[in-house]
Amino acid sequence: MSNRTHFSSRIGFIAAAAGSAVGLGNIWKFPYETAQNGGGAFFFVYLLCILLVGLPVMIAELTLGRHAQANPWGAYHKIGGSSWAWVGGLGVICGIMILSFYNVVAGWSFGYFLQIGFGDLLAAGDHKAYFGEFTKNILPIMLYALLFMGLTTYVVGRGVKKGLERAATTLMPVLLVLLLGLIAYALTLENAWDGVAYYLSFHPEKLNLSVINSAMGHAFFSLSLGMGGLITYGSYLNKKENLVRSATVVTLADTGVAFLAGLLMLPLVFTLGQDPGMSGPGLAFVTLPSIFASIGPVAGKIVGAGFFLLLTLAALTSTISLLETPVAYLIDEKKWSRNRAVVSMGLLIFGLGIPTLLSYGAVPSLGNISYAGGTHTFLDLVADIFSEAALPFGGLMLSLFVVYRWKMAGFESEIQEGFAGYKDHWISIYVNLSLRYLAPIFLGLIFLSNILEKFFNIHLF
Ligand code: TRP
Repeated sequence: MSNRTHFSSRIGFIAAAAGSAVGLGNIWKFPYETAQNGGGAFFFVYLLCILLVGLPVMIAELTLGRHAQANPWGAYHKIGGSSWAWVGGLGVICGIMILSFYNVVAGWSFGYFLQIGFGDLLAAGDHKAYFGEFTKNILPIMLYALLFMGLTTYVVGRGVKKGLERAATTLMPVLLVLLLGLIAYALTLENAWDGVAYYLSFHPEKLNLSVINSAMGHAFFSLSLGMGGLITYGSYLNKKENLVRSATVVTLADTGVAFLAGLLMLPLVFTLGQDPGMSGPGLAFVTLPSIFASIGPVAGKIVGAGFFLLLTLAALTSTISLLETPVAYLIDEKKWSRNRAVVSMGLLIFGLGIPTLLSYGAVPSLGNISYAGGTHTFLDLVADIFSEAALPFGGLMLSLFVVYRWKMAGFESEIQEGFAGYKDHWISIYVNLSLRYLAPIFLGLIFLSNILEKFFNIHLF
């Protein structure tokens, strides 16, 4: 059928898609969200969000991509015509904007890895002040972000098989070994098991609608859903692939790593008796370095460098997937060569990230933007628009598109290609139910409440 390049093996695809999903979200955000919002009870709600909405939407993205053999814009355009293409276009723009800030944080992680491993970051007395100075120092952080974008463009420039697939099949096992090694060490620290107990303790009284909202939002971000990244990855799959099984494996991998990350972070945080509620950049870049410093000069350096290497690698397989979508758009629709697309997109997105890069102290006004009754950084602003609001919107539109434009019969035939008997299987009833009712209702509500909350300071829940 098409002469589009495809992943060369199932495991290659799964590694790449899991690499996209496993990222900064899993390692740095998930553990403190869980600890703060009810521990085991939050995890349970998170699993429900994934089961009821996340997994079916992932199946839908992959299926649409494989059917259309195109980037998100092209996929919506092929099936839905020009009245739907903009939804895919919005996804492409989302990928660009999310990568613009994600790359900055990835650059910080990379910088911390270098400065802990090869410099004397841990010897600094005050890690809060250190982080403040670090993000104020324009030249080095710009260099780190540029290097990181360079790494990402290098991989994406090598294409689907030699780039995305090979990077993921090499890096994902390294990531897992690193994570398990760090957990094994962290569990030997003083008070470690108190941290585990805190992480897993079941506090249903902390659950409320706003917690459920953030569980759903995080599930979407963590699974890389809502902007069509997995439409793009699906377009590199052949008809033999069982999309339901692949999506399930990717989802399990992402959730498994998020869970494991908690088993690393909470023991670390509890060793020094830190406040586990400490969140945002502070957790990774302020709290953890002081903990690494406290566990001794040599062990601290090894564990600290190991941790930031873990963060850097997790970020890299995600930035690769974020860059691939706009690149695929330029290749498919504008007939650009991969190299031209990769270099121009890489530079454009790096440039778009500069205000974010400057928003943590270097240019005070970029860290002090007033909206919705509070002051925010430029990073918050971009994340609020393109992640908190646009991703649920993308998922909402995707489910409406599949159900009302493409229609279930066509959608199910596509899945059936690699999953004989899908139409008669109970799984099809479940996916159907989700795309028709649960996904649009939940995602619609989250979109609405996030818009009201983030931009108008009106709290629905
Ligand atoms: N899922 C990644 C994380 O948890 C980030 C990511 C990669 C992403 N690609 C995406 C988020 C596409 C939303 C959409 O860090």
